[in-house]
Amino acid sequence: MNTTKRLPVFEKFIQDVRAAWAELQDTEARMKRVKVLLEGLVKDPTIQEHSKNWPSTEGHKNLLLYEDPDYQFVVNAVVRTPGRYGRIHDHAHAWTAYGVLDGTERLERYRRIDEGKKEGYALIELESLAEGNPGKVDLVPPFAIHSEKGGPTRSVAVIVRSERLVGRTLQGRYDAKTDEYREGEGPTQVPFEVA
Ligand SMILES: [Fe+2]
Repeated sequence: MNTTKRLPVFEKFIQDVRAAWAELQDTEARMKRVKVLLEGLVKDPTIQEHSKNWPSTEGHKNLLLYEDPDYQFVVNAVVRTPGRYGRIHDHAHAWTAYGVLDGTERLERYRRIDEGKKEGYALIELESLAEGNPGKVDLVPPFAIHSEKGGPTRSVAVIVRSERLVGRTLQGRYDAKTDEYREGEGPTQVPFEVA
């Protein structure tokens, strides 16, 4: 990727995340720093304005904004149509910081209440929900079960993943109505330059 034409606030964000990786040793510490950095990014009016023109990710897609060649962290975006119902899932062993950039979303966390011994079955219940407004960042630990639901208008979120799972690791998917559990591939990655 050509770093010179990137939106300056986004370029600075990438460099700050790289510095966190260089300075801190474990993934949890790095991602706690990323949460603070992402809070700054998703409050920035220039990238908020820029995101008004980002393409929709309908059809289980993510925009791939950046993948670090040295540290392997990934920056994605999701652009939801109004009222978009996000599925309930986990991110396997990866850490994820999920920041709302535009519009509103409902960030839901679930807890698993069965013992996980029955094939294809998971009983879950809603643990918490938070209203996600621009500037709000949810830090999602490994295997945490969650969902993001779109609000009444188009919404955009920027996501930092501690590593890429797509093409490497399957993620858990949950259905709160049927109690069904399965593993599946994450969203299709669509390269997109914030420039
Ligand atoms: Fe997620």
